[in-house]
Amino acid sequence: MAIIKKFRITTFKKEINKITLKKISLSYNRRQILDDVSFNIREGEICGLLGPNGVGKSTIFNIIVGLVKPNYGDIYINQKIVTDLPIYKRSIDFGLSIVPQTGGVFSNLTCIENLKAISEIVIEKKEERNFKIEKMISKFELDAVKNTKAKHLSGGQRKKVSIAMSLMSDPKIILMDEPFQGLDIMSTRDLQETIVNLQTEDNKRCCIISDHAARDLLAISDRAIILANKKIIAQGTPTELINNKNAKNFYFGDAFKIS
Ligand SMILES: Nc1ncnc2c1ncn2[C@@H]1O[C@H](COP(=O)(O)OP(=O)(O)OP(=O)(O)O)[C@@H](O)[C@H]1O
Ligand SMILES: [Mg+2]
Repeated sequence: MAIIKKFRITTFKKEINKITLKKISLSYNRRQILDDVSFNIREGEICGLLGPNGVGKSTIFNIIVGLVKPNYGDIYINQKIVTDLPIYKRSIDFGLSIVPQTGGVFSNLTCIENLKAISEIVIEKKEERNFKIEKMISKFELDAVKNTKAKHLSGGQRKKVSIAMSLMSDPKIILMDEPFQGLDIMSTRDLQETIVNLQTEDNKRCCIISDHAARDLLAISDRAIILANKKIIAQGTPTELINNKNAKNFYFGDAFKIS
């Protein structure tokens, strides 16, 4: 399984909570989506967030960044309560960044212009901006399309621009909502490596990643959380989850293997 990740970082790291959701409940138009959901994401870990369509994964990301306020419960970042903190404060104070499931780019701007727009907000020193933009263009192999408007890019290319934009600020906490969606095999592998490198470069950085490419996600995850029927039904290391009865019954099914 762990062809990319050679070790599970949590085996030697102290367990410091970076993000905590405590007793979160949320309903949309009286339809309950999340019911008493609590979990911790630890400093330095890559944590997968899995579950069937519509279970509330993107909603959880929106709750963490502050786009959605839960009906009940609290959110903590770095062990500080942030439930009433606006989006920009969570982003600036805690280095929080998100790759949204859809969008995330300005359609009428080119790749370079998208990155430039973000760089002007998140990178203080002018001289560092171009260097970082070039680095991202090269990392995500966007050179051939760097002057193409985002609306004319392929789905995978657009996703790469959105991921590159989220990394411009050197975030400490990265939320990625379906980052593998639309990526080809080699690009998937490259992104897996990029994510593992983000962890290696800064061993306090944490990533929460949701994706339906469960095999690709578990290959780089230290831990994962599985949601079903409004609740967390299992959490643990990939190996623990594969052997978990609830995870099998509600999410993986019988035939799923990770090696
Ligand atoms: N603003 C909203 N108003 C009403 N219902 C919403 C809203 N946002 C999300 N929902 C509903 O909440 C549920 C959870 O949606 P969410 O996008 O979090 O699911 P998900 O787990 O990310 O699914 P997927 O794997 O398909 O991306 C869905 O039933 C969706 O229709
Ligand atoms: Mg989603």
